[in-house]
Amino acid sequence: MQIITSITDMQSHADSLRKAGKRIGFVPTMGFLHEGHLSLMRRARQENDVVAASIFVNPTQFGPKEDLDRYPRDAEGDRKKCESTGVDILFTPAAAEMYSERPSVFVNVEGISDILEGAIRPGHFRGVATVVAKLFNIVKPCKAYFGQKDFQQCAVIKRMVAGLNLDVEVIVLPTVREADGLAMSSRNSYLDTEQRRKSACLYRALTAGEELIKNGVREPETIKQKMRAVLVQEKGIEVDYVEVADPDRLTPLETAEGRMVLLVAARLGSTRLIDNLLIL
Ligand code: PAF
Repeated sequence: MQIITSITDMQSHADSLRKAGKRIGFVPTMGFLHEGHLSLMRRARQENDVVAASIFVNPTQFGPKEDLDRYPRDAEGDRKKCESTGVDILFTPAAAEMYSERPSVFVNVEGISDILEGAIRPGHFRGVATVVAKLFNIVKPCKAYFGQKDFQQCAVIKRMVAGLNLDVEVIVLPTVREADGLAMSSRNSYLDTEQRRKSACLYRALTAGEELIKNGVREPETIKQKMRAVLVQEKGIEVDYVEVADPDRLTPLETAEGRMVLLVAARLGSTRLIDNLLIL
């Protein structure tokens, strides 16, 4: 596995691969890799000639009071995981090269970036869209892989790709879960034992909502009340939102019919957890 840190080195390597007719599959990450990331890398391995992954804890997607400074890191462990999953190129740029001291160019996907997570984390999706656009221009992939766990992020990125006519196919793969249903996330490492036990209630809330829908309940308010009730059964859970939404626009549905996504966001102590369930 080749480790590349410089942007121009990555770009010229990507150029020569593309000239040689190689298809690059790309998995952008912020590191502290888990099975969710590895499942993306494995799929990229199956579908492309060359697999590139990036590890970059992107400062522009963190709010001023968020966890940028304490975001978990494990450079050596991540390197080994990438290597054993068949990654060919690991791109690990420095923040100082990715951004000038006062970055002034951003990608803003309007509307969808301002609701749900975007309403609670203003500027978050501007940071995500900006760094993903930059990474696409640096790594030059044919296909890029993202986890469904960050459902709104995937929707923002798909819209950005369509809106800017980027020549990249965005592939979203299912959420990988722990045995009790908790969606894998690097931030789960913040949870203490008791919080970790309680955190499974997000998935329980989603499946309780799904069950109502399967039983013919069509009133989103009833479904949301049930999901909330499951969440607050665990003491110490603070619910940020529960939603029954259109899976493309992420706007609330008036009737729970057809394709939809159930979304939850909650806090346990200082840790925010999000999850979702797509109902087709
Ligand atoms: O999902 C993540 O890890 C990040 O938001 C991403 C897509 C790598 C952009 O920094």
